[in-house]
This record gives sequence, structure tokens and C-alpha cells, in this order.
Amino acid sequence: MSTSEVVRSAGLRAHWHAVANVDSLVGSPVGVRLLGDDYVLWRGPDGNVVAAPDSCPHRQSPLSAGTIESGCLRCPYHGWLFGAEGVCQEVPSAAAGVPVPPRAHLETVYAAEKYGLVWICPGEPAAPIPEVGEEDDSDFRRINTEVQVWKVAAPRMVDNFLDIAHFPFVHVGTFGGAQDPRVSPVELEELEGGFFGYRYEIVAENPEEARATSGSREPVVERAMSSGFRLPLTVRSTIAYRSGLRHILLLVSTPMDAESSYFTFVVWRNDDFNVPAEEVIAFDRAIGEEDRVMLERLDGEMPLDRTVLVSVQADKASVEWRRRFAELVRG
Ligand code: FES
Ligand code: FE
Repeated sequence: MSTSEVVRSAGLRAHWHAVANVDSLVGSPVGVRLLGDDYVLWRGPDGNVVAAPDSCPHRQSPLSAGTIESGCLRCPYHGWLFGAEGVCQEVPSAAAGVPVPPRAHLETVYAAEKYGLVWICPGEPAAPIPEVGEEDDSDFRRINTEVQVWKVAAPRMVDNFLDIAHFPFVHVGTFGGAQDPRVSPVELEELEGGFFGYRYEIVAENPEEARATSGSREPVVERAMSSGFRLPLTVRSTIAYRSGLRHILLLVSTPMDAESSYFTFVVWRNDDFNVPAEEVIAFDRAIGEEDRVMLERLDGEMPLDRTVLVSVQADKASVEWRRRFAELVRG
């Protein structure tokens, strides 16, 4: 099964995918790409996010090039106006009293806001957006970062986010230099929030740039960690430091199409709230950049057939994710 078939699969269309930051929905409509299709997003007059194909039903103008008027989206070509739930409210060329054609309304898709992100689902949702308990825990604060475009197929990203054997190599410029490259036997288990993965411990380098994140001035820090997935493409990593500081990462990979993906992460921390958010996530951003550079070197799709790639014990979590993901997309 090729990645272009994967992104067209009914299995992926029946899940929520994060496509933008909530903060981006101000002023103008936002164009996004998901599973090979273009969508427009905007905040409607009732405050709810509207998501619809980015093509006007009249002459297929991209609606994302339009303008927002009191929560309604005005098409840039002939000015048709769309309101809550994509309902066409006005056709400027029509004489007074002439009703709007029934097919002028936009065929919206499901849209939701969670964790500071806009999630959309082009089909009937088969499962809710993954739960992260720390969102409702007042000891934790949430920090969002930008949504980036990576030139890499999303399955390669999930495979990477479940893998710790690359830390001493790819992440030698950030935290990976102190880690023993030998990976202890991976024992898969149910983790918090319905994520499935494994727990492990690492010794991480703690350079000056990492100290706002780790809260420690030691040259190396011990981290008790877990990494787990929820189908189709979400990974949660948890880091617990000896100090009691916990740092939770939701790693979000969204297939724009077969070759490109959105990447963003969301952090929750029970820290003392004194370090500015930007400083806290600068180190995570640098780590993500190391992954991006590595992954963009890998060509095209990731084979889902387990006989194609050679895997070892350290790959157990990603092999199990790939098996379940292949099942989901094959239907
Ligand atoms: Fe949108 Fe004509 S193409 S109003
Ligand atoms: Fe990595």
C-alpha cells in the first residue's frame, strides 16, 4: 500500500487531525491541506470553527483568499457570503427576494478546538481526539508552539517519535550525547490516557540551553520517560525528572498529502510557572529541528509491510504501531 493510498484511505478520514493553531483564526480565513485535499477554516459568527473544502460552490475560487465580515466568509470572486455551518447567506448578483440556491451552501466537515489546536475530521469520527489528563490539572500549564510543514510522510514521523535508539545520534547536539546507545528490552503496555507504548530511563545531557526546560543546573539529568501512541498518528511522551518536574509532550503529525505533513507539539508542565513559555520550549524546538533534518533525508513513503524494513528489539513500539496503523488504513 503506497502512502498516496494511505492518505486516501477511509480509515484516516474517519479520525481527527490537527491542522492549525487556534490563534491563527483571527482576521482572515486560513487555508490548510489534509489527506490530499484543501480546506478553509474560519471562526463563524456563533464562535464555532467552520471547516469546509477550500473551493467556492459557485466557480471554485479558493475561499481561503476571501475576507471575514462579522464572522461570515466572503468569497473573493463574486462575493457570495457564508455564515455559521457554511450556510450561504447572500448572493450579491441576485435580485432582492430571490432565494439562495440550495447547493450554494458549503459541505462542511467536522471541526473542533482542543489543546490550542484546530482539529478536523473529513469523515464520520471513529474515535475522539486523544485525551491528555494534564489539560484539566491545575498544577500543569499548557504551552503551544507553531505548526510547521515538514517534507516527510507522516508515518515516518510517528515511527521516529516512538524510537529512542536515535537519541545518541540524531540528538547529539541537544540532549543525546550522554545516553548509552544500548536500549533496554522494550516492554509494551497500556499507558495513561489510552496511549500504548513503553517506559524507559535515560541520562540526558543538560547544556545551558536545556536548563530552562529541565529546571536543573547539573551537566546531566536522569529522566524517567514513556512514549506511546494512539491511532492513527498521535504520540505522547512523558518526562519525569527527579525534582518532581513532569514535562508532557503531545507530538502531532498530520498528513497534508503523501509527501508533506504538519508537525506541532503541545507541552504540559507542572513547573513553578516562572520561566517564560518561549524559553521552556526553545529546547524542544531544537530537538524537533534535529528530527526534521534527519527525516527529510528519508525518501518518500515508509513501507508498511513489515517484511520490507529490518527491525530490532529497540523498534518494538514502532513495529506494533505500524501493524495497527496498517490494519486501520487497510480497513
Ligand atoms: Fe465564489 Fe463566484 S466563485 S462567488
Ligand atoms: Fe527524535
